[in-house]
Amino acid sequence: MKVEWNKSLETGIGIIDDQHKKLIERIDAFVQAVNNDDIEVIEDTVDYLIGYTIQHFGAEELIMIRNGYAGFKEHRDKHSSFINMVYEAKKSLLNKELTKEQIHHMRDELLSWTVEHIMTYDKIMTEKINKKI
Ligand SMILES: [Fe+2]
Repeated sequence: MKVEWNKSLETGIGIIDDQHKKLIERIDAFVQAVNNDDIEVIEDTVDYLIGYTIQHFGAEELIMIRNGYAGFKEHRDKHSSFINMVYEAKKSLLNKELTKEQIHHMRDELLSWTVEHIMTYDKIMTEKINKKI
């Protein structure tokens, strides 16, 4: 299964959409690595994904702050919960504590969290910022 960006994920803020496209590409690389069951590539792609995600969250948070967005704290808490989730996953990967099933679960969680977050929190935020409400 290939994970691809599509129009339903579009927010209308160019810089965010461009970053979401890159994020989806990195998720796809990770998903393919899990599907191929290649632990070295899994570790590399998850690092690459975590790094980009944290950078991207910073860009979104800056946009929210600059616009005085009322939902900033709640949205930032969602980002923090994601960072905690990947931190725990990375720790377990490093300690070689994850079974194949758990790695598959991690893949599904990362993918569904990201898509749901874009479809809900990011869309609400960008709509309000675009309309200045
Ligand atoms: Fe977000």
